Amino acid sequence: MKIAVIGTGYVGLVQGAAFADVNHNVICVDKVEAKIRHLLDFCEGKRNDLPILEPDLPRLVKENYDKKRLRFTTDINEAVKEAKIIFIAVGTPSNEDGSANLTHVRNVAAEIGEAMNYESDAPIYKIIVNKSTVPPMTYKIVHDIISEKTKNEFDVASNPEFLAEGRAVKDCLRPSRIVVGTANAKAASIMEELYAPFKDREVSILFMSNIEAEMVKYSANTYLAAQVSLTNVLANLCREVGADWRNVLEGVKKDVRVGRFVYSGLGFGGSCFPKDVRELIYSMGSHRPGTADLEYVKKIIEQNEAQKGLFLPVMEKYYSGLNGKRFAVWGTTFKPETNDVRESAGMHMIKELLLRGACVSAYDPSGSEQALFALSLDERVKPHLSRLTFVSDMYEALKEAEGVVIAVEWNDFRNPDFEQVKNLLKKPVIFDGKDIISTRQIKELGFDYFGVGRPDILGFSRK
Ligand code: UDX
Repeated sequence: MKIAVIGTGYVGLVQGAAFADVNHNVICVDKVEAKIRHLLDFCEGKRNDLPILEPDLPRLVKENYDKKRLRFTTDINEAVKEAKIIFIAVGTPSNEDGSANLTHVRNVAAEIGEAMNYESDAPIYKIIVNKSTVPPMTYKIVHDIISEKTKNEFDVASNPEFLAEGRAVKDCLRPSRIVVGTANAKAASIMEELYAPFKDREVSILFMSNIEAEMVKYSANTYLAAQVSLTNVLANLCREVGADWRNVLEGVKKDVRVGRFVYSGLGFGGSCFPKDVRELIYSMGSHRPGTADLEYVKKIIEQNEAQKGLFLPVMEKYYSGLNGKRFAVWGTTFKPETNDVRESAGMHMIKELLLRGACVSAYDPSGSEQALFALSLDERVKPHLSRLTFVSDMYEALKEAEGVVIAVEWNDFRNPDFEQVKNLLKKPVIFDGKDIISTRQIKELGFDYFGVGRPDILGFSRK
């Protein structure tokens, strides 16, 4: 089938390449020429990297480009003319108030509508599929915009993505489920044909209304975010009463009704959970009659913001102030296997330490460049950047530091060379923001250790 994917960001590029991989003919469109140039240069062997870091994506893109099933262009008209199914996969960033900014979706819908007015002997019919994460009722906005631009026949389907960063290719090639929202039988049957190769992989395709499909995406992410948030409340409580959440969890998890997002940490981050939960609150809160209580959902965000700063009062107390002291921060990405630093605990930590007058030596296996770029755009932090250094070796970050904060669970941080850590730090102190350190050696070597859901270990201070 001929498919156009508008937007070559995270979702568009991975989904486009996955469709090509099951033998569809895919044309990916982006209005940013530099992005298309980057992708073409990669496919033609002129550079080694893609615009995003995602395991297995380079192979998937290159193989399908070489087989001529995946193409890239800036020309939306050409793509719309050729394709039967057109995916909208552009960004929906948050507005200042947390609501979703649909400017890109609206613009693309208008461009698709205009591009549908080409000369053709056969009647023109297209399915426009919303893949971008959009607030419920957006399908109607897209429908209305396109109808204003063309008299040709079309349907709008809602088909949310469920990709998690770091395993997006796997998630796309073998999705947990495929959700298709449409009221139209013809559109449903074409979408079924499109996803038939995935059905062969025993993936269920769920058909429902547009609004239900849109709600699935927001509900799924809010549900998972709530699990992480509740986990962290219970983990914090465990620390306070002298219990280890990991041990408690073993007992809780034996109940098969308990979910999988149960690992404690310095809150959730990334491009989806924080944004989608906020959008649910603000975009939906504004146009509902107001019977559903969103206070509970608001609390998820509030809890998460507080969680990111969990160690700050602990550190302030332990060091009797942070001004002028140096700390190492391991990890700037929001989770391992990505270079995405959006809303990460590490970024929050670095900012707050700098704002409190501390010096920071930071290390991340892949997110240093992105972190520095994001920090340089933050007006509050900019004046303090001279006190921040990024280093390319995790142990180097420890030199002259009073302690180390582990902000994400990269494998290298799980079992470091504790002797080296102890020798390099001014004092042997670890703030384990992901509860990943095995505490046996910590105790033997006499570290002071602070975790999220574990009792403090004061081996050094009590010496
Ligand atoms: C998420 C959803 O998983 C995906 O289905 C959706 O399409 C987009 O949002 P992603 O943002 O890539 O994907 O990350 P995910 O692996 O879900 O983790 C989200 C955040 O929750 C991370 O900051 C992670 O560290 C945190 N988390 C997750 C925990 O703190 N504890 C857990 O037990 C699980």
